[in-house]
Amino acid sequence: MAGNSIGKLFRVTSFGESHGPAIGCVVDGCPPGLPIDVRVVQRALDRRRPRVVGAVSQRSEPDAVEILSGVFDGRSTGQPIALLIRNRDVRWLDYSRIDQLFRPGHAEYTYWHKYGINDHRGGGRASARETAVRVAAGAIASSWLGAGHGISVSAWLSRIGTLELPFRDASDLAASPRFVADARLEPSVEALLADYRDSGDSVGAEVAIAIRLPAPLAERAGDWGHDWQGLLGHALMGVNAVKAVEFDEAEDALQIRVAVKPTPSVHLPRRTIDKAGRPAVLMTRGKRDPCIGIRAVPVLEAMVWLSLADMVLRERAVHAGALTGGD
Ligand SMILES: Cc1cc2nc3c(=O)[nH]c(=O)nc-3n(C[C@H](O)[C@H](O)[C@H](O)COP(=O)(O)O)c2cc1C
Repeated sequence: MAGNSIGKLFRVTSFGESHGPAIGCVVDGCPPGLPIDVRVVQRALDRRRPRVVGAVSQRSEPDAVEILSGVFDGRSTGQPIALLIRNRDVRWLDYSRIDQLFRPGHAEYTYWHKYGINDHRGGGRASARETAVRVAAGAIASSWLGAGHGISVSAWLSRIGTLELPFRDASDLAASPRFVADARLEPSVEALLADYRDSGDSVGAEVAIAIRLPAPLAERAGDWGHDWQGLLGHALMGVNAVKAVEFDEAEDALQIRVAVKPTPSVHLPRRTIDKAGRPAVLMTRGKRDPCIGIRAVPVLEAMVWLSLADMVLRERAVHAGALTGGD
């Protein structure tokens, strides 16, 4: 199975490579008649873009989204919604050296090994550039379920390395360039990131996600049980660099913790192999992100919305009109 689609009834299929002309996705199964505003999708994408200038990414992409189909007069038609983001900042020479060498810990080796051919530019399909379209699709799901249904999903950076970052305040989180929910901890996070930037190394992180459902839905979610957790786990584990997902059911909310591994590209010499399997040494250069867990926050939030949309449609199929019916 190719693994480019997620969801059964609310189904998203993504396409595109890091340095190809565009990335995008098709969202199939979105109910008709929902208000879809391209500016809402754009705002979600802007949240995923690096918010600290020069600090976290090698490239500068505007991530301007276009809606090509499935929306008429500002409403979903019930037909496939195609979302397109053109790649603009495509500097392929940056990657010429790794044409023959694999970055240890990066998924590009897996793609090459599996298919025997890969677009190596910027990691090709293995690049987390693909996560932008997950965020765009998640914005469609959240504009449906987040509006008027009393569902809320909130994610924050809960740990970076050994530094714990507990939730303090929603307004701190909204204002934070690094999705930290306690503004007092922001300087410690910056100091830690500066250390990793200076040393050339990278650091892992944990993202917490709190999900609140309105009472009738929460009751049904109890019955969904493992089904829903299975769906959520699958969606979250499918995000690049995610290594573990933990569920914690509180009285009135579901809290999830997601472990994100350190950035594979580091400014340190790493032992690797070339395409012929010969040992080699690789050191990546240029600007780089010492902690990808930060940019994973809006991506993971989007995956939760996508799973919720799929689960709600599955429930509707069983109990017609029972959940969020009448949209
Ligand atoms: C938001 C995000 C940004 C990422 N940025 C980078 C990056 O700049 N450099 C890098 O080497 N890997 C980056 N990655 C990880 C790669 O996408 C790669 O696919 C990942 O290491 C695959 O790991 P896995 O096979 O263990 O899931 C990023 C991951 C995410 C979620």
